[in-house]
Amino acid sequence: MATCDMLRHTTIPLNNGCATVPAVGFGTLIPDPVVTKEATRTALEVGFRHFDCAERYRNEDAVGEAMQAVFRAGTIRREDVFVTTKLWNTNHRPERVKPAFDESRRRLRVDHIDCYLIHTPYAFLPGDEQDPRDARGQVIYDRGVTLIETWQALERLVDDGQCKAIGLSDVNLEKLREIVGAARIKPAVVQVESHPYLPEWKLLDFCRQHGIVLLAFAALGHSSNPRLLDDPVITSIAQRVHKTPAQVALAWAVQRGTAFLTTSTNPNHIQESFDLSALPEDAMREIRDGIATNIRFNTVVETGVPGFIPRSS
Ligand SMILES: NC(=O)c1ccc[n+]([C@@H]2O[C@H](COP(=O)([O-])OP(=O)(O)OC[C@H]3O[C@@H](n4cnc5c(N)ncnc54)[C@H](OP(=O)(O)O)[C@@H]3O)[C@@H](O)[C@H]2O)c1
Repeated sequence: MATCDMLRHTTIPLNNGCATVPAVGFGTLIPDPVVTKEATRTALEVGFRHFDCAERYRNEDAVGEAMQAVFRAGTIRREDVFVTTKLWNTNHRPERVKPAFDESRRRLRVDHIDCYLIHTPYAFLPGDEQDPRDARGQVIYDRGVTLIETWQALERLVDDGQCKAIGLSDVNLEKLREIVGAARIKPAVVQVESHPYLPEWKLLDFCRQHGIVLLAFAALGHSSNPRLLDDPVITSIAQRVHKTPAQVALAWAVQRGTAFLTTSTNPNHIQESFDLSALPEDAMREIRDGIATNIRFNTVVETGVPGFIPRSS
């Protein structure tokens, strides 16, 4: 069914007063760099204009190459694309923030970063080992730096001009309140896991009050079990509106006022996830009131160690 629906082009104003973020975002957490490059290129070609990266994904180079190739071809300009990347846990010490930021810019081949996030609120032992462990295999945390000290180092990146907006990821409401209360530059974006099985309404309300964009990762539930895309509420709406369950979940994310991140290495899925149309109001209500399942698929918020609960596919 052809559509001229504008939902996929939704942008949300940032509280830095000088930019907007496309609500429809593509995540680059893809282990293989060759596949990352191909998926990034496809996502740019089908229309995604917001890319989520991270030092920890170890593939910023591949994302940067794909973006450069598309920019060089002249069809898409750098200023049309919103690039987010993240400071890893081993770089929370203030003196490590600017070098880590500059390395991300270098790998991504961009002069400025549109949004730089603290990947998790947990500081790990500073150094080149991204996953520092003691002899018993336990993560070695860094007690010598506070989150606000790291935040202040991000504020200085904004002052320097190469970073347009800053934010946090994998924080709970309590941590977010703390930073909002103490910050000179308020967080513009908060990236957390969110989908119809983890709607995070209280966090979203707080974000709305403070003009913070909630950027939902795992917007399709990461294909984990219980499978969101098999949920009877989602599948019955999909049938009714002649869209796929993935398109229903993603449209819901935009219409309730969040930005989202989805990831795929399958070109058909990438196209499908961009081809969104607005849901009728009764479908929005059904998803809010008719889904009782509540589940978090990623435990990173508890420890700072990234990881989805393994899928049983
Ligand atoms: N801040 C953090 O700590 C954090 C943690 C996790 C993720 N993230 C970010 O969020 C991004 C998205 O997370 P995610 O990978 O969990 O997202 P997701 O979109 O919920 O899950 C991806 C899964 O959905 C499938 N899929 C994608 N599009 C589909 C479609 N149209 N129909 C059916 N299945 C589809 C993919 O399979 P196929 O490849 O087969 O399509 C893949 O198995 C990451 O890339 C990363 O940027 C951030």
